[in-house]
Amino acid sequence: MSDSYRFFNKCYEQYGDIYEYYIGNRRAIMLNRVDMAENILTQSIKSKYFIRLVAANQGWEELGFTERGLVGNKVMKNWLLNRRMLNFCLTSTKYIKEIVNVSQERFSEAEEYWTELGDSTPLEFTKWMHAITVDTQIRTLTGQITYALSSYRNSLLAAHRQQPLPESSLHYSKLINHLCTISRVGQFFYLMPWYFRHYVPGIRGTAERMKGEARWLQEEEGEELRADLLSLMLTINTQKDLNRVKTSEFERPLDEEEIVQLLIEAFSGGVDSITNALCFTIYDICKRPAVKSRLIAEIDATLPSDADILSYDALTTSFPYTSAVMKESSRLLTVAPIIAQIASEDDEVAGYKWRAGMTVGVNHGIIHRHKAYWKDPEAFKPERFLDECEDKVKPKTFLPFGGTLRICPGRFMADRLIKTFLIMLFRKYEVELCEPDKEIEYHYAMSNKCKGLKVYLKARNKEHTAAA
Ligand code: HEM
Repeated sequence: MSDSYRFFNKCYEQYGDIYEYYIGNRRAIMLNRVDMAENILTQSIKSKYFIRLVAANQGWEELGFTERGLVGNKVMKNWLLNRRMLNFCLTSTKYIKEIVNVSQERFSEAEEYWTELGDSTPLEFTKWMHAITVDTQIRTLTGQITYALSSYRNSLLAAHRQQPLPESSLHYSKLINHLCTISRVGQFFYLMPWYFRHYVPGIRGTAERMKGEARWLQEEEGEELRADLLSLMLTINTQKDLNRVKTSEFERPLDEEEIVQLLIEAFSGGVDSITNALCFTIYDICKRPAVKSRLIAEIDATLPSDADILSYDALTTSFPYTSAVMKESSRLLTVAPIIAQIASEDDEVAGYKWRAGMTVGVNHGIIHRHKAYWKDPEAFKPERFLDECEDKVKPKTFLPFGGTLRICPGRFMADRLIKTFLIMLFRKYEVELCEPDKEIEYHYAMSNKCKGLKVYLKARNKEHTAAA
């Protein structure tokens, strides 16, 4: 499993744009070109490729993941309701503004800890970014304050320098551990055959316990409603909802199980992918001095003083080069490079006919570096994503968030969060890789995960930079 992405890339080198492989005794096809994958890369609800491969998995069925929430849901009617509700919440301006504010607060908290550690201490950024993202996500998803950042800071210091944390932090750290492991449980249930799952004591019990503990997310919040996702989902289409959605599919509120599942998916879908995308992008910037200088120049020109607040509007409308760098980084090392769907009807693709039930994969990682679509595909050139670039990005060739009916609902939120962190980081710090000659290491487990990114942070000497 951990090498399956490399395996698929090797198959591409050997067999080309389309090839066949087997998952157990299930026949599957992998497509590496957009024109071949047109029937899959459609956002029509009539798509024949609505069902994900994970939904055909007995383990996921056992977890109840195939009839509620989004990722594994194979019941179109349930999925549609859940999807529209989550989209409605995740794309609300109020919610995204809250994300931008909370992520800046959490970043400032991390800065206090970095100052305390001193600028000669190597910082394991995968862990720092994970902790910042966890605290930001839980706060914006549920309104609860968690202590992932301060707990991580404590873990780096001798006992006498640790700060006491509120008693509730223990409860939250246990819950965060559970939420963080849910995706691993999903992977485990997906990969482990039924026989083993039922004869290995404790596995099913663990999953049930985790689902149960996630229920605290629905605790009563009192009368005052905030912009967090939980408040939005609890009130949507109830008497407290001022924005009642008027489509017939929305004419009921979400039930308890649906809300829990959506929060778990929003958390587990978001934290890891945002952390990994951030670490890959920071690495790419630090490796390329010219890119770093241009990015810093853009940030300094848009926010001249450290005291300037990064507003939601500035974040959305300014920083085109920063956005281009983020895109180029996710083109070259795509966090979620592969999707696998099941054909619900017979179909004909790339001149081949296949029966309903066939598994069809699309490798975005290859499409992002395919010579048919990109000039100089292996080079890091953020300019290709700028408006002024004459060689426009071809339709459907850039798919970091997927491109099917099930395209990532968290894409706007992820984009704003990553951009905020990059701006906050590079406006104030000279970021240096501890091992500049080492290539970034990552492994694939349903998505590409950064194995570690150590950096030194030094306060930037802005006058010096301006004079240069
Ligand atoms: C850099 C960050 C992220 C990346 C690269 C990413 C990527 C993806 C991809 C490739 C898919 C599959 C799309 C398809 O099948 O066409 C997906 C689905 C999904 N993502 Fe994300 N994602 C990110 C952040 C987030 C965030 C922040 C959330 C939640 C707040 C989220 C929640 C989900 C969910 C629930 C699905 C399943 C959607 C469905 O089946 O209808 N993701 N994501």
